[in-house]
Formats: sequence, C-alpha cells, structure tokens
Amino acid sequence: MIWLKNVSKRYVGDEFDVLALNHINLEIQAGEFVAITGASGSGKSTLLNLIGCMDSASEGELYIDSLPLHQANTGKLDQIRKQYISFVFQHFALLPEFTVYENVEIPLLARSYQRKERRERIREALKRLGIEKYEKKFPDQLSGGQQQRVAIARALVADSPIILADEPTGAIDTKNTEQLMEFLSEINKNGKTVIVVTHSDFVADYAKRVIQLNDGLIIRDSGKEEKSHEKNNQ
Ligand SMILES: Nc1ncnc2c1ncn2[C@@H]1O[C@H](COP(=O)(O)OP(=O)(O)O)[C@@H](O)[C@H]1O
Ligand SMILES: [Mg+2]
Repeated sequence: MIWLKNVSKRYVGDEFDVLALNHINLEIQAGEFVAITGASGSGKSTLLNLIGCMDSASEGELYIDSLPLHQANTGKLDQIRKQYISFVFQHFALLPEFTVYENVEIPLLARSYQRKERRERIREALKRLGIEKYEKKFPDQLSGGQQQRVAIARALVADSPIILADEPTGAIDTKNTEQLMEFLSEINKNGKTVIVVTHSDFVADYAKRVIQLNDGLIIRDSGKEEKSHEKNNQ
C-alpha cells in the first residue's frame, strides 16, 4: 500500500519558489491501476517522483507498506526504491552506448543478481516484449516503439511490485500506445500496482482509477467517488 498524508512539495531556489504539491492525501492499494492526469505543471511528475523514492517531500508523511519514506535518508530511499519500484520514462532513458541486453541488465546489477539469474531474467523479459532478436542491438538501431519495449523490459526485469510510468506514451504512435497499455494492463492483472502519468484520455481509460491534479491539488479522484457512491447506496 502507498499512503500519503498531508504531503507538500516546495521547490525553492534563488529565482523560484513553487508549491508543486499542496497537502495531498492519497491511498493506493497494492494491485491498483491508477492514472494521474492534469495540465502541464500541475504536479504529476513531482507526485510520481515522491512515490518512486526519487525525491523527498517538504512536508507530510509518505509510506510504502509500513515504511516511512519521509523519515528515510537518501541511502534508505535508494534501498526502498530497489525493493519496490520500477520506472518507465517518456523518452525511454536507454543508455545509447549499451546494447538492449545491457540496458535491461542495469536494474539487476543494481540489485546484485548473479550472472546466470540475470541472463535468465533478461531473456524472459525480452521474450515477453517480443524483442529477443534485438538483444545485441543498440537503442539508436531501433524504432521508437521498439525502444519503449526495451524500457518496459527493463522496468519488468526486477519484478518490482510497483510500476511507475511518467507519460510513457508521449513519444510513440497510436498503435504502439495501444500495445503498451495492453501490456501494462496485463502486468496489473498479474498483481503489480501500476501508476501512469498521462495527458491522454485514451491512456487514462485503461486505468481503473483516475486522479486529476490541478496546481498541486487533487481535484478529482474516481476511487473516492466510487466509495462515496457505495456509501450513498447503503
Ligand atoms: N526541480 C524543479 N525545480 C523547480 N521547480 C520545479 C522542479 N520540478 C518541477 N518544478 C515545478 O513544479 C511544478 C510541478 O511540476 P511537475 O511535477 O513537473 O508537473 P507536471 O508533471 O504535471 O507537468 C511546476 O510549476 C514546475 O515548474
Ligand atoms: Mg511531468
């Protein structure tokens, strides 16, 4: 379970002071499929990065299971991230000088898997995404859709319980978007918590719950609407 209690994030510098998240309260159960929507600058990536242990809140409490992220230093956050989180990014974030195989291997190296188990997991992930024949290719030898599949394989290979995707379909065409979303749905059916940041209604429709942000506030949460609907019907 992911739990945020009164979470704020303020970015402060010499030239700026932005309240990117404004006292957010949010609970996401294990196994949910959530879309986070909202205009550019509304705080979507900030929220995802806090859940993904990439950054710390300025105020409030955050938990993954019972682990208090707000009390964790960066070393502890790294450790929690490795245990729980995989990221898929809009621009794939593949390393250009590494082969497909080596790119997918990165999370396993970070988690100290032995060579043989790494090989088995990588082959399985590449196969699931239908890209096993590109194993020795470099990212720039692949199409955008193929690169995004490599990024997904890399996100799956460590078998993390929580998959976070920040505008994962922003740089691919409609057909690849549909395939990617079908794939994320399948991953979710297999028990993973999936949280997708998106501008696209088409993408958000795949999620079972939609959370809309505006200026750092949650202005809509379809999960809560369902709950209050149930209450009203009792
Ligand atoms: N590292 C940063 N430093 C300063 N301001 C930031 C930083 N990251 C985001 N912001 C600001 O915080 C607000 C929310 O940004 P972000 O979470 O990236 O929104 P979204 O992903 O919805 O576009 C914006 O006003 C943005 O300019
Ligand atoms: Mg963003």
